[in-house]
Amino acid sequence: MKFTDSPIIELSIGNKVLSIQQDNNSMHVGTSVWPCSLVLVKFLDRWLSNPNPNPNSNSYTHLLSNFHTSRAVELGAGCGVAGMGLYLLGLTNITLTDIAPVMPALKHNLKRNKQTLNKTLKTSILYWSNLDQINSLNPPFDFVIATDVVYIEESVPSLVSAMEKLIGDKGVVLLGYQLRSPEAHTLFWEMCERVFEITKVSHEDLHPDYAYEETDVFIMRKKS
Ligand SMILES: C[S@@+](CC[C@H](N)C(=O)[O-])C[C@H]1O[C@@H](n2cnc3c(N)ncnc32)[C@H](O)[C@@H]1O
Repeated sequence: MKFTDSPIIELSIGNKVLSIQQDNNSMHVGTSVWPCSLVLVKFLDRWLSNPNPNPNSNSYTHLLSNFHTSRAVELGAGCGVAGMGLYLLGLTNITLTDIAPVMPALKHNLKRNKQTLNKTLKTSILYWSNLDQINSLNPPFDFVIATDVVYIEESVPSLVSAMEKLIGDKGVVLLGYQLRSPEAHTLFWEMCERVFEITKVSHEDLHPDYAYEETDVFIMRKKS
């Protein structure tokens, strides 16, 4: 499911508005904006703007306490919504990565939002199976960000392995997730359960305007 067929998607964060241009007709899924990216950004926006909007639920304040001094990398960034959104929320040391054919769409959107962001964010070509590219990013990272990246069964082992190699022992993987392929889904969660402690964010803790039944946010930490 694409979020909308509109060529321009807008996302408000504080008093800023990101404007992302998407191309739903290209052969690369990364040139479209996918709802998980919006859901993840607005979940964090909700908790950063108001550390405890729901007194009955667990607080995410601890998770976000050193957001501003953390190093982060985004996998399969596509048009860059999650990376740009989290940058505006304070995750300023972030590198957005994707495959080479998606780079023009990513760079176009970073340029399009340069004034809002006050700078052009860092990008890097990263194929999940490419160990040299992983190492050249100089892991470990405090945060690995990924939204709507689980849809091809064959790519799952390299995706999980890239997450494991990139994240630090005390780091956090923030995943926006939607079931797109039953085979990829089963393999992904089987593999993740071996490597990560996994917490699913309750839907009542998501941003009320960006909480879709089919979309989830997961917080994953390496098992010790
Ligand atoms: C469905 S799109 C999601 C894009 C963006 N994260 C979003 O939520 O709008 C999946 C992204 O994963 C990237 N991707 C798929 N397989 C990949 C691989 N093997 N290595 C690196 N990136 C990959 C695609 O190029 C694409 O940008």
